[in-house]
Amino acid sequence: MDKSDLINRAKEHFGRLLEEQFARIEKMKSQRDFIDYQDLGTIVIGFVGGDGIGPYITAEAKRVLKFLLEDDLMSGKVQFKDIEGLTIENRAKCRQAIPDDILAELKKCHVILKGPTTTPQAGDQWPNIESANVAMRKELDLFVNVRPVKIPEEGIDWVFFRENTEGAYAVGNKGVRVNDDLAVDFTVTTYEGSYRIIKAAFDYAQKSGMNKVTVVNKANVIKTTDGMFLNVAREIARDYPDVEWDDWYIDIMTAKLVDPKRRKQFKVMVLPNLYGDILTDEAAEFQGGVGTAGSANIGKRYAMFEAIHGSAPRMVKEGRAKYADPSSMIRAAGMLLEHIGYKEKAEKIQMALDICGHYEKQLVITGRDTGATGREFADYLMETISDEKLAERWAAFSNK
Ligand code: IPM
Ligand code: MG
Repeated sequence: MDKSDLINRAKEHFGRLLEEQFARIEKMKSQRDFIDYQDLGTIVIGFVGGDGIGPYITAEAKRVLKFLLEDDLMSGKVQFKDIEGLTIENRAKCRQAIPDDILAELKKCHVILKGPTTTPQAGDQWPNIESANVAMRKELDLFVNVRPVKIPEEGIDWVFFRENTEGAYAVGNKGVRVNDDLAVDFTVTTYEGSYRIIKAAFDYAQKSGMNKVTVVNKANVIKTTDGMFLNVAREIARDYPDVEWDDWYIDIMTAKLVDPKRRKQFKVMVLPNLYGDILTDEAAEFQGGVGTAGSANIGKRYAMFEAIHGSAPRMVKEGRAKYADPSSMIRAAGMLLEHIGYKEKAEKIQMALDICGHYEKQLVITGRDTGATGREFADYLMETISDEKLAERWAAFSNK
């Protein structure tokens, strides 16, 4: 093909991407308010095991939820729904990030607890299907990704608001390989998409009393898209005179998170998708690794809760899946409970996780047979949750 044909083909492709984005903007504009769980007769919680260690750790998180929600499961206020088949083998067979029948099942739920799913990457054995995570965030329009990181003894109390549907991820699998010499990817920022995530961050900062938002960007170089993100932040900040705010470039922000003196100043952070992906892994590392962090993906109609780590297929291959640490999934289950209105039960999970995984550590998970199994750990956790003195026990440790 000569150059002008290549350029025309790329232009057509780009035109189709813009059409898709215009349609998405219209959809965003037509959205109403966030769902109110108190208005629902029954709240349906979906469980998706995923693949690799996913089904193992999801099963443990489900046991903990069943234990805590026993009464409401009996009365029908809450209903559990298992959703099978979101495995890499099945997705590869259907050549879909989320096969249609599974998507239909997901849409019957209000909230979803999802185990990790293997993401194909260029050059591996799997077809070039999009990540199931990314697809679910887009399909269910889960635009707010909340990722908290807390280390009380170091004064760290961070809540990341990662934009979850746009940026480098919006058309991440729709770049153009123009020819052997040239490949182009696209990053997408919309006014509407920036507005809704930044507003969610300011709302949270205000409601939680944290009253401080840091807007992360790279608008000095990525001028058009990050520039729009930053401008929208300036506009929204005017509506929140009580919330202090500042803006930081992603590079220096990444450095300052490592600085023990400076990092305490950060509270709520709002970031475009890719920066949020990277910075939240770094932040989770301070707390004990990505295995300890949970993540909430929230939209106006649906919400999905997950671990932030991958599916660790190697652990399954080596027969170690039952030793996988379910903490992150259980933390995600706690976030799910809080989201649908069970604040006290959610606090119990958080306290028990701190005690069992961080302070008391009567059982230790090593990921192999030198440590406890995920099931044993979940039992230890439920025992701790049942302790009438749970709050005192937790306070004794965390005030140390
Ligand atoms: C995450 C993960 C995903 C992402 C991957 C698995 C596609 O890293 O949830 O942070 O990049 O968003
Ligand atoms: Mg990530």
